[in-house]
Amino acid sequence: MTVAAEYRDAWSAEFGTDRVGSLMREILGEEPDGVWSAPGRANLIGEHTDYNGGLALPIALPHRAFAALRVRPDRVLRLTSGQERDVVEIDLDHPRPADGPERIHGWTSYVAGVLWALESRGYGPLPGLDVVVDSAVPLGSGLSSSAALECCVAVGFDEVAHLGLGGDEEGRIVLQGAAIEAENRYAGANTGGMDQAASLRARAGHALLLDCRTQGIRQIPFDLAASGLELLVVNTRAKHSNNDGQYAQRRADCEEAARILGVDMLVEVAPQDLDAALARLPEERLRERVRHVVTEIDRTRRTADLLEGQELSREVFEQVGHLFNASHNSLRDDYEVTCPELDVVVDTARGLGALGARMTGGGFGGSAIALVDAERVGELADGIAAAFDDHGFRSPEFLVALPSDPAHRA
Ligand code: GLA
Repeated sequence: MTVAAEYRDAWSAEFGTDRVGSLMREILGEEPDGVWSAPGRANLIGEHTDYNGGLALPIALPHRAFAALRVRPDRVLRLTSGQERDVVEIDLDHPRPADGPERIHGWTSYVAGVLWALESRGYGPLPGLDVVVDSAVPLGSGLSSSAALECCVAVGFDEVAHLGLGGDEEGRIVLQGAAIEAENRYAGANTGGMDQAASLRARAGHALLLDCRTQGIRQIPFDLAASGLELLVVNTRAKHSNNDGQYAQRRADCEEAARILGVDMLVEVAPQDLDAALARLPEERLRERVRHVVTEIDRTRRTADLLEGQELSREVFEQVGHLFNASHNSLRDDYEVTCPELDVVVDTARGLGALGARMTGGGFGGSAIALVDAERVGELADGIAAAFDDHGFRSPEFLVALPSDPAHRA
C-alpha cells in the first residue's frame, strides 16, 4: 500500500508575527509592543552528553516559536497561546517554583520561569506582561519546543525591559542560563542546556559545536545543499517527555558513575581510559551508560573534525553518516533511550540508502534524523510512512531541517 508522507512546514516571520499578533488582539484585546521568535533544534550528534560536560552538535530548525509581548503597568503576567486559548494570570511577586507547594504545570511554567530566573539573577524587577505564544515546533516531539518557547520570550523580555543581553554572546549566555534554570527549577525538567544554547546561539548554515562544560562554541559550516544532501527530521509522534522520570534516571546513573570513578563529570574520562574506567564500575547498567557517554563525546568530536577545515565531499558525509549510525546504536543498546518507532525510522532509512540515521534529542519517543541524497528524500519519507503503517504506529510527520537563525525579534 502507498502511504503519502505528511510534512510540517516552517512559518515565515510574517505568518508567525501575524498569528500571535492577531491572537493578542482577539483574545486579550490589546496591541503587541513587538513579536520575537526562536527556533527548535535537531541535534546532529552528541546525545545525553550535555549534562556530562561533553560536546553536542545541534542545528537550529527553521521551525520556530513566536511570542507577542506587551508591557503592563502592574506585576501580572497574563498568558495565552494559540493552542489553548485559556488566559492564565500569574502574580510576579508570588513565585511558584517546581519544588514549592503552588507549582505551575504545563507550558506557562516555561514562560513564567524565564522571568523568575532573570529576576533571581538580579535583572529586575521586570514589568508585568501580556504574552501570547504559538509555535511551528511540534510539541513533545524531542525537537525542543520548550526551549524555543523559553528563548523567544527570553529575547523579548530582554528587549522590552532594556536589559541589553540579547545583542552579544556574553549576554546570550546569561539568557541561556535563565532559560535553563526556568526549565530545571520552574518546570521541573532537569535537562542539560544544549537545547537553549542551540535556540539562542546557533547560526544559519552552520551546526553549533557546543562544549557543555565551558559553554564555549564553534560555528561549523553545515551546507548540505552544496553537496546535494538533505537532513530529514522524522517526528515519530510517539510521546516524548523530559520530566517523566526516565530522563532523570539516566542523569542519576551518570552522576552515580562519576562519583564511583572520582570525577566531577563523565567528560573527564578520556576515550583511551574507558576500559580501565569500566573495570571499576560494579554494575552492567552503569558500564553501559558510561560507555555511551564517553564514545558519544568522541564521535561528536570526530564529526566536527570531519566537517571543519576540509572540502565537504560526499565521502566526508558518508563518514559522518557512519558516526550517526554508531550513535544511534549506542543510544539503543547502551543508553536504552530509543523506542520501537525510533528504531523503525532508523532501520528503514538505512535500508533505503540514507548515509546515516539516528534518534535526536532526549529519546523515549520523539524524533529521528536521516542524512539523505536530496533527490531521495520523498522516497525515504514515503518508505518510513509505509513502514509505520505496517507496524500499526501512528503516522509520523516530516520536517526538512535547514540550519537556521537563533532567537531574535521577528
Ligand atoms: C533533551 C534535553 C537536553 C539533552 C538531550 C539529550 O533534549 O533537553 O538537555 O540532554 O535531551 O542529548
